[in-house]
Amino acid sequence: MRRVTPPALSAVNLTQAYGDVTVLRGVSLELHAGEVVAVTGPSGSGKSTLLHLLGGLDTPQHGEVYWAGERADTLDTQRRAQRRAGRIGLVFQHHYLLDDLSVLDNVLIPGRLAGRPDPEHAQHLLARVGLAGRGRDMPGVLSGGERQRVAVARALAAHPAAVLADEPTGSLDRANAQTVAALLVELARETGAGVLLVTHDERLAQHAGRVLHLLDGQFTDTLPDYG
Ligand SMILES: Nc1ncnc2c1ncn2[C@@H]1O[C@H](COP(=O)(O)OP(=O)(O)OP(=O)(O)O)[C@@H](O)[C@H]1O
Ligand SMILES: [Mg+2]
Repeated sequence: MRRVTPPALSAVNLTQAYGDVTVLRGVSLELHAGEVVAVTGPSGSGKSTLLHLLGGLDTPQHGEVYWAGERADTLDTQRRAQRRAGRIGLVFQHHYLLDDLSVLDNVLIPGRLAGRPDPEHAQHLLARVGLAGRGRDMPGVLSGGERQRVAVARALAAHPAAVLADEPTGSLDRANAQTVAALLVELARETGAGVLLVTHDERLAQHAGRVLHLLDGQFTDTLPDYG
């Protein structure tokens, strides 16, 4: 019998409300290995809320989240954190590197949490993001763009099925933003990870094979009017 590979990441009918405000109304999506999907939408449309649910940083009020075919939203916090480390890479606008760990040790965090650290792969990724030889530096001595490149390497270090990136270049200047986005997409292609990229930046969205627009709590086919 032919085995069908499950999506890298999928969500079914996610609904999330804060008080009287319903932010997501039954959002479903599938992200496949090697695919780059951009998510756009006005400020406050629920992009970060969606990514937090997909990454298991929050639990949906209704709906289901699957990581490489395995139900994620019903796992307890500890097990979810361990599974996340091995299956999902996260990149945010802020790098969230740990200041008192070296660059290399930061990149090794997901692998350690997942129980399979791979220093060689981590060094390879650091070289790929242009930081060969900087593994023993502390994050504090790096530039903003360099720190974000470390965050990209860290997101891919444990061979995740999917990378979730929320405005990953939002704190960078134009040139650094392009470099970081290109590296994220390139490395994900090399490792076969799917990428879900939240961005306001049309130039970054051009990296995507598919663009999803979030509006009024749902994906819409029509481009929202930001006017
Ligand atoms: N923990 C929370 N408690 C209450 N309201 C929240 C919470 N998290 C998000 N919201 C609300 O949900 C809505 C969507 O927020 P979210 O951060 O997902 O938007 P976004 O699309 O990421 O916006 P931006 O482009 O500005 O980052 C907003 O109205 C926000 O105030
Ligand atoms: Mg946001």
